[in-house]
Amino acid sequence: DAGEHESYMRKEMLEQPTTAQAVLRGRLDDRFGTAHLGGLDMDARDLRAVRRVKVLGCGSAYYVGQMGAGLIEELARIPADAEAASEFRYRDPVIEPDTLYVAVSQSGETIDTLLAVQEVRRKGGRCVGLVNVVGSAIARECDGGIYLHAGPEVAVASTKALTNMFLGFALLALQLGRVRDLSIADGRRLVAGLERLPAQIEEVLAGEDDLVEVARGLAEARSLFFIGRVRGFPVAREGAQKFKEISYCHAEAYQTSELKHGPLALIDPDVPTVAVVPHDELTERNVAALHEIAARQGPLVVVTHEEVDLGEVGARRIVVPRNEPELDPILLTIPLQLLAYHAAQHLGHDIDKPRNLAKSVTVE
Ligand code: BG6
Repeated sequence: DAGEHESYMRKEMLEQPTTAQAVLRGRLDDRFGTAHLGGLDMDARDLRAVRRVKVLGCGSAYYVGQMGAGLIEELARIPADAEAASEFRYRDPVIEPDTLYVAVSQSGETIDTLLAVQEVRRKGGRCVGLVNVVGSAIARECDGGIYLHAGPEVAVASTKALTNMFLGFALLALQLGRVRDLSIADGRRLVAGLERLPAQIEEVLAGEDDLVEVARGLAEARSLFFIGRVRGFPVAREGAQKFKEISYCHAEAYQTSELKHGPLALIDPDVPTVAVVPHDELTERNVAALHEIAARQGPLVVVTHEEVDLGEVGARRIVVPRNEPELDPILLTIPLQLLAYHAAQHLGHDIDKPRNLAKSVTVE
């Protein structure tokens, strides 16, 4: 059982500093600034032959897959994107021999993801897995992969497995990058960043008490937006996913840049926005969008870095520590887990077993 914790979700969230270490253990190479992933079963030549990466997963695994595709494109300069595995095989996709397909799944049993893997392999493609459960159906079906070592995850809402999915992608991106043009200096910078991450995750979790009131406020809303750009957009999508899964509030994710092309019409004092605003090259544009929301009296919660100046926006700030910009998405994701958790807790919901949902969906 969840022991002294009131729920598995809380227990699993708090385990993250330890479980994050487990996925990195033995896989980081400080000297050459790269990662070693024996289970991938791909040598340097195979890795160099990859021309495109397509990530497949469902739910949270799909959203973290979008973070992962971003990391791969950024570090390895290989075009990469993520697609909902539940849609993939129904459009008779073209499978290319020089595309690396990556299936992401905590349980390794999600039928939609398994069928997507089978589609890839039936058509002659190479599919590797980022899977938590050892020996699961997806792990067995893939050509090779990276086990996530997050330990058993019980709560429907994925937390520690999701974090390890992100870290698994970081390892893969690093290795793909280093056999290409990613410099040893950049490789070492990222290895050092990954080594710092578990302690920083712990730091974010230690701020839990400060988020309880904010979460309760958000729980009163019937509808809310989660917004972010580029690296921050999948973070917003995952934040909205968690929030709707366990609080049952309507939560919608949008690219901050798209706000003015539609959803701004909905902003008023009853519709809060949770914005992801890291300190990066897009900060200024992000802050400008927050002004648009504030001008319409939309309540704002901003997950951000210390250095970011929000000016006169009048938002509730949630500050997370900075890592390397490429790795920041996972630190920005942790407070969104806590917000969803405390909103659901406030509303008195069954956090570990939200209505209508199953931990793994094994029938089509
Ligand atoms: C869902 C769960 O149906 O399956 C989600 O409700 C989960 O929370 C998704 O993210 C994918 O599961 P898995 O095991 O393939 O990662």
